[in-house]
Amino acid sequence: MLGMKHKLPEGFFQGACDMHCHLLPGVDDGFPTSELSLQTLQKLEQQGVMKMIFTPHFMKEYPDNNRENMMAKFEPFKAEAKSHSKIELRLAAEYMLDACFMEHFKQGFLTLDKQGTHVLCETSYMMYEHNVPEMLYEIMLDGFQPVIAHPERYEYASKGHYFKWRDKRYKFQLNLLSLGGAYGGPAAAKAHFLLKEGMYDYVGSDLHKWDTFVRFSSQIKLGKKDIDRVAQLLENNKELFG
Ligand SMILES: [Fe+2]
Repeated sequence: MLGMKHKLPEGFFQGACDMHCHLLPGVDDGFPTSELSLQTLQKLEQQGVMKMIFTPHFMKEYPDNNRENMMAKFEPFKAEAKSHSKIELRLAAEYMLDACFMEHFKQGFLTLDKQGTHVLCETSYMMYEHNVPEMLYEIMLDGFQPVIAHPERYEYASKGHYFKWRDKRYKFQLNLLSLGGAYGGPAAAKAHFLLKEGMYDYVGSDLHKWDTFVRFSSQIKLGKKDIDRVAQLLENNKELFG
């Protein structure tokens, strides 16, 4: 029937790769302990997830989160996780476009992809800082591809921002749970708009808590075409993991 909405089908995450989550324990506002992270990996595996890209926050509020420190935390966790789950893990980062961003650029980005080009970036939710385009321009000159994390969540952002960003060749990452209303009505409306416009390139869980994931993923209702669009974004994620 025209306009019918459906829940995500059973087995939707079979073979999936997630490219945005805060499962690296004890480093940001995501998972606090390795026990919880390991349990969650097992739950994700039961859902069929096969690959996860960890993206801890790199922002001035977490001054210790830099390339060296995160690699030093990730490697032992990855080794431990091997005995708990078959999910393959990879380390990247979610970079806030703040005063520390160019320093992380100098130290070498932890990229989403193996080729070392795709950089997950977020802006403040409230304000679009005037120097954001300059910073992104600078990294693009150096061969990096910005991936804008959850563009639907930025309160300041209007359609004008999105079309401008697309013209600048930034890629867009949908937060899956935006579609289920996890970040409120305006974010949900923007997510549905951007999805229909075909403006997203990837989809991530932005997982901070398992309960939130269960609650809001079950509230997602989409038309058949939009379900196919999200499935395609999940496919695109696999190219990042390589
Ligand atoms: Fe995030």
